[in-house]
Amino acid sequence: MIPKAELHCHLEGSIPPALARELAARNGLGVPPGLIGEHGHYVWKDFLSFLATYDLVCTTVRRAQDFGDVIYSYLASVARQGAVYVEMFCSPERPAALGITYNAWLEALEGGIDRARRDFGIEGRIIIICIRHLGPERALAMARAMVAEPHHYVVGFGMGGDEAQFTPADFAPAYRLAHDRGFGCTVHAGEVLGPESVWAAINDLPVTRIGHGVRSADDPALMAELARRGIVLEVCPGSNIALGLYPDRKSHPLHRLIEAGVRVTLNSDDPPFFHTTLGAEYDEAGLGEAALRGITRTAIEASFADQATKQRLLREIGP
Ligand code: ADE
Ligand code: ZN
Repeated sequence: MIPKAELHCHLEGSIPPALARELAARNGLGVPPGLIGEHGHYVWKDFLSFLATYDLVCTTVRRAQDFGDVIYSYLASVARQGAVYVEMFCSPERPAALGITYNAWLEALEGGIDRARRDFGIEGRIIIICIRHLGPERALAMARAMVAEPHHYVVGFGMGGDEAQFTPADFAPAYRLAHDRGFGCTVHAGEVLGPESVWAAINDLPVTRIGHGVRSADDPALMAELARRGIVLEVCPGSNIALGLYPDRKSHPLHRLIEAGVRVTLNSDDPPFFHTTLGAEYDEAGLGEAALRGITRTAIEASFADQATKQRLLREIGP
C-alpha cells in the first residue's frame, strides 16, 4: 500500500452517517430531520446547502469525548488506507457553543490522537480553523485564544466557510498573529471563487498552503507564481467534483497544476459528504506509484509538524 498523508480534512466533515446516528443516539437526540436521505447519504445540493448540512452533522456532537471519538474514528479509518499522518481542521466555534472549554476540547482531541497512534501508528495534528462567513472579529478572537493557550498538537491556523464573504485582507490581523507566534497558515481559496481569490490570499496572508486553490489553473501567471514561491495546494478532487466545480476527474485540473510545477497534495475534505476517501483520492488521481509517493512526501514537507516528526515520517515512508 502506498503511504499517504492528508493535510485537508474537516473534523465534523469526517463523520460518516452511521457515526452521526450513533452520536445522536448516545446523546439522546434524534437524527436531525432531512440530514440523511433514503439511500443513507447526507442530503445537500450545492455549496451553501452543503455548509448547512455540515452544521446539522455538527449538532450530533455534544460532549468533549465525542470530539475525541470522532478524530480517533477518522484516524483509524485512514490508517487502514495507508495514511501515516493527518492534519485535521478543527473549529473551536462548535465546542464553545456547547459550553466546552477550549482546553477540555483539546484534551479530548489529544486523547483521540494518542489512542490512534497507539492502535495504528498514525500521527495526527490539529489545525485551528475559523469560519469565514462568521467574520474577521471572530477569527481574531480565535487566533488570540489559540496563541494564549498553546498545545503541542495545535500546529496551524486556517479558514474555511463561505469564500464569497469578506476578503483575505480582512483576516490579516488574525493570520499575522498566528504566523508571528510560529503557527503554520493555510486558507481555503480558489474553490468557489476564481484565481483572483488565490492572488488575494497569497498577497495578503502569510500562508504557505492553499486549501483547494484549483481555480489557479485558470491563470498561467498564478500557477507560475505558486510554483516560484513553492506554495502547496491541498487539492481535493472528489470534493470539487461533488460540489460541481468540474464535471469529472478527466476535466479536473490536478494534472495541469502538476505540469505547471505547482506542488500539490491529495485530500478528501469532507469524505462521506462527497462519497470519497483518502484512499480513493490516491487510487483515482490517474498518477503512477512514484508520483503518488512524491505527493505524500510533499504533504509531509508542507505539513506544520515539528522538524523531528517530519524527518521521522519521511524516513518511515522511504523514497
Ligand atoms: N468547510 C468544510 N468543507 C469546506 C469546503 N470544502 N469549503 C469551505 N468550507 C468548508
Ligand atoms: Zn475544506
